[in-house]
Amino acid sequence: MTDDDLTAIAARYGTPTYVYDLDGVEAQVTRLRAAFPGADVHYAVKANANGALLRFLASLGLGAEALTTGELERAVRAGFPPERILLGGPGHTPALVKRAAEVGVGLVSLDGEGAWRIWREARAPDTRFLIRVNPGFDPRTHEHLATAAPHAKFGIPRAKAMALAEEVAATRRLAGFHVHAGSMIAEVEVARLVVEALSPLYDRFPDLDTVDVGGGFAVPDAPLEAFAEHFLPFARARGLRLVIEPGRFLVADAGTLLTRVLHVKHGALRHVIADAGMADLLRPALYGAHHPVRVLPTEGAATAPAAAPAASVPTPAVPIPATPTSAIPTTAVPTDVDGPLCENADRLARHVDLPDVAPGDLLAVGRAGAYGFAMASNYASSLRPAEVVSRKGEARLARRRETPEDLWRLEDEAQRSS
Ligand code: LLP
Repeated sequence: MTDDDLTAIAARYGTPTYVYDLDGVEAQVTRLRAAFPGADVHYAVKANANGALLRFLASLGLGAEALTTGELERAVRAGFPPERILLGGPGHTPALVKRAAEVGVGLVSLDGEGAWRIWREARAPDTRFLIRVNPGFDPRTHEHLATAAPHAKFGIPRAKAMALAEEVAATRRLAGFHVHAGSMIAEVEVARLVVEALSPLYDRFPDLDTVDVGGGFAVPDAPLEAFAEHFLPFARARGLRLVIEPGRFLVADAGTLLTRVLHVKHGALRHVIADAGMADLLRPALYGAHHPVRVLPTEGAATAPAAAPAASVPTPAVPIPATPTSAIPTTAVPTDVDGPLCENADRLARHVDLPDVAPGDLLAVGRAGAYGFAMASNYASSLRPAEVVSRKGEARLARRRETPEDLWRLEDEAQRSS
C-alpha cells in the first residue's frame, strides 16, 4: 500500500482508523513458512482478532492459538478448523473447558495442575495436551513480556512438569511440551535456551509427537532462520511436529493507525495533539513502545468526513484512487505526538523528529497491526477506531467506528431487563 492509498482511506473512513494490509500479512506468512518449513503455524489471536483478518489467516491454512472464550469463539467463527485450534493461557475455567471440548479443539496447553484437574473431568476424548513449562530464564525483553522468567506466572517448573506429564501420559493424551519464552524476542540465544529447557523432558518421554516452541518473534527483523536452526533440528531428530504460535510477527508491520493532527503546541517541546492516543494504541503508554510516525500527503484532508458510514450501510469494496502526493515539509523539530485525553501517558510517540505539521494533517503510526486495536479501550468514553482491510489494492471497512450509542447500549439492555 502507498501513502496515497492511506490518505484516501482516511478521507473515506475518517480518523482514527486502523488499516491492515492483507497482502503484507500474506507476505509475512510466506516468510515464516520459508524459515520454518513443515512447521504447524498457529496464529496467536490476541495480537489482532479482527474477523476479516482471522478469516484471511484461516483461508491461508493457518491454525489458531486462543486463550479466552472470546478468542475461541472468534476462531471458530472465522473458520479455523477446530482441530487446528490450540487453547492455551493460564485461566481455564470449567465453562471454557466445556465449550472447548464441545468445539473439539485439537490441542490444549496446560499452564498448571489446576487446568488439568478441570480437563481431566471434561468429556474430550480426542483432545490432546501440551504441558507448558516455565523454563526460568531471562528471555531478554521488556519485563511485561518476559513469560519465561522464573518469577512469571506462566507454566510449570520442570520437575513438576514431569510429574504432571506422567499423569497426563497415563491417559494416552499427552502430545508434548510447550515453552513460550516471551514476546519481542530478538536474540538467538533465547531459542537455544528453549531447546535446552525442553531436551530433558523429551529424553524422559521419548514417545511424544509434538513440541510447541511458542511465538514471540520480534518485529521488524527477528532472526527467523537462526531461530529455526535451533528448533527444526530438535524437532526432526526426535520425530516431533513443530508448532509455533506467532502473533505480532504476522500482523504488526501490515497495520497502520491513521490519525489526524488536532492542534500543535509549542512549549519545552513541540506537542502535536492527535485524535488518537492511549485509548486507541496503548503500547507507547504501557511499554514505552516505539511506533514510527510519519506524515501523510494531506490531499482532501479539509473535506474529509468525520465519521465512518453507519454499520447498517453495507460498504462495497472500493478501488483506492491514486491521489497525487502533496509536498511534505521537512523541518524536523523534537516532538511528542500526544493523544486527546487528560493524562501525560496519553501519547503515541515521544521525542521524535517530525516535519512541520498543522491541524488537519494526517499521520500514519506504523507497526500498529499487533496489539493495537486489540488493546484499544473506551477509556474516557473514547470511541474505538474503525478498522479497514486492504487486499490487492481494494480497501473495505472491516469494523465500523464506534458511536456514542455503542457506549451505553449494554447499560440500556441491562436497564430494560431489570
Ligand atoms: N503464545 C503465547 C502463549 C503467548 O502468550 C503469546 C503472547 C503469543 C504466543 C504470541 O506472541 P507474539 O508472537 O505476538 O509476540 N501486549 C503485548 C504483547 C503481549 C504478548 C502476550 N502473549 C504488546 O503489545 O507488546
